[in-house]
Amino acid sequence: MVQFYTEKFLSHFREPSNVGEIKKADGIGQASACDCGDVVRVTISIDGGRVSDSRFKASGCATAIAGGSLATEMVKGMTLEDAADLSADVLAEGFGGMPEQKIRCLDTVCNAVRLAIERSQSTTQSRD
Ligand code: FES
Repeated sequence: MVQFYTEKFLSHFREPSNVGEIKKADGIGQASACDCGDVVRVTISIDGGRVSDSRFKASGCATAIAGGSLATEMVKGMTLEDAADLSADVLAEGFGGMPEQKIRCLDTVCNAVRLAIERSQSTTQSRD
């Protein structure tokens, strides 16, 4: 782990990708970090068993914003299983390292992604 924010992290924080919300999303997930109250909301679209689009909104710290940006980029094209397994460590590696104490903020982002996928699957099953 690094003790500073990498350039890649800072660029995702300053100019985050995929900010917003998909209007007719297949899955919506919202997670909060209970100790700080920050909230991350992720919406996804699904096509052929893969994530075809993903957006996020974060009311939170720089890591929640940068993490939402990288996570929504990474999950596009992934199978639902792989996207649901996205971990804070993978996001941290994607940034080229993260200060250890901020990893828990990335957990919040991953929880929101996982919830969006779980809810999409329960919606799909209830339509069957
Ligand atoms: S300090 Fe709350 S998500 Fe980072």
